[in-house]
Amino acid sequence: MTNVSIRRADFMMVLAYASDLATGHSRDFALKSCVLAMRIADRAGVSEQVRRNAYHQSMLRYVGCNADTDLLSATFGDEIALRQDLVGLDMGNRAELGRVFVQAFKRFYYDLQPDAQAKAVEAAMSQALAVARPVLIAHCEVAQRIGERLGLSGEMGRNLGQIYERWDGKGLPRGLSGEEVLPAVQLITLAQDVIALSDAVGIVEMAETVASRGDGPYAAHLARLVAANAAVLMEGIGVTVDRETILALEPDPPVSLDEADCDEAFLAIADMIDMRMPFTQGHSRMVAELAEGAGRQMGLPAADVRALRWAGCIHDIGELVVPVATWMRNGPLSVRERDAAQLHAYYGERALASFGREGEAMASLVLRHHERLDGSGYHRKVGGSDLSPAARILAAAEAFQTSREERPHRRALSSDAAATQLRAAVREGSICPDAAEAVLSFAGQRSRRAPHRPLAGMTPREIEVLRLIAAGLTAKEAGRNLDISPKTADHHIQNVYAKIGVTTRAAAALYAVEHGLVRPGETKSSA
Ligand SMILES: [Fe+2]
Ligand SMILES: [Fe+2]
Repeated sequence: MTNVSIRRADFMMVLAYASDLATGHSRDFALKSCVLAMRIADRAGVSEQVRRNAYHQSMLRYVGCNADTDLLSATFGDEIALRQDLVGLDMGNRAELGRVFVQAFKRFYYDLQPDAQAKAVEAAMSQALAVARPVLIAHCEVAQRIGERLGLSGEMGRNLGQIYERWDGKGLPRGLSGEEVLPAVQLITLAQDVIALSDAVGIVEMAETVASRGDGPYAAHLARLVAANAAVLMEGIGVTVDRETILALEPDPPVSLDEADCDEAFLAIADMIDMRMPFTQGHSRMVAELAEGAGRQMGLPAADVRALRWAGCIHDIGELVVPVATWMRNGPLSVRERDAAQLHAYYGERALASFGREGEAMASLVLRHHERLDGSGYHRKVGGSDLSPAARILAAAEAFQTSREERPHRRALSSDAAATQLRAAVREGSICPDAAEAVLSFAGQRSRRAPHRPLAGMTPREIEVLRLIAAGLTAKEAGRNLDISPKTADHHIQNVYAKIGVTTRAAAALYAVEHGLVRPGETKSSA
């Protein structure tokens, strides 16, 4: 290991950026809330510990928001538009929440006749909370797991378990109230609403709204403090926040990660990106492994090999800006959807700005991961002269891996068929021959390696069940697959949850990916 040292806050900024994309928040929303929360913390005179937790909570609050997104999308339609409508809303106000849900369902059923639309909206409304509630609980559990993987304390884990709790007890998942809601949670719930409301209605109206919500979502003394000092607190919190500002705000002592810890942090980001849809689970960590192996095989310098490994983990982070429904479409995309989808490489490059100079090599690779030697790729359509050996490897690894995974419009290819397809792309002149052979050679070696081992005291049957539910199967489907009753399958699932310490399918799936139990390609219909 070389002497790599990257600030943990840099990783948090990347995750904040990813969460902002996935939730449809404005640019640097989470970072702005971090700046504001630190100002409120100073005025409120909170302890150093609370300040530290609020710093982390501001950037990681929505890091679990990719859990069960496919479920949310299937019920509510465009999940990013829904989240945008929810920004700054008083979620304890049933009438307001109902209005937003009706709006989402009308958008979803836009092509029905008025009578049919009204019936569809009514039916969807009766299911809305039953669908949303477990999804929000999964957000908490996934955020906790990701926080743990970044090396945050158990206390920070408790904060991330309360992201939707409120002062008045109308929050989720446990309906805590008053001081049961941890101080950093109180601070960030308020700070993020303040940013959202200021963006939407300006500072004066924001201050009035916040004052009226004292003893509602927020503690009255904090609401009063913000309302009375709104202009000063918001001063200079503009459109963007730069990296140095966030680094300077980190409570002492600043934490840096060595190469091994960075590897784990990048894998956590990879899993966060991929968990959005069942068929992409494990995609990024697999691309990283193939690209790194191929880079080593081709004798690239250590720094390039490391950049390939990390770029592989993070290459699709820009996909979060596109609603899940687009990626789940079993048919051609509209021109607008295709343009948005192709821009994910650009948004990915931008995410790496959080790493400053350390991120430059990765950013360059991420930007080019769909470019082709003959200029037939996207989004800049550059040619071979713009593609370094490392960029060619990442492109080959990504193409090979993707074809081995199922997508809504096609089945997964076997490794042999995927190799044939990659070699055809070489003959057509779009993929570099050396890069392709290095990827295929490494993939061949990899497949001969020993598979996983028993974990967390799970029996082989429990591991089988975990793999199936992680791949998106219901208990009933898993039972059918294993030739056991749904009740027995459910019994296994409950045992698995207890042994690995989770209560939601999404968190169990994340555990399975982290421990190599899910290989891309093992999705719902192929499991
Ligand atoms: Fe990808
Ligand atoms: Fe991609």
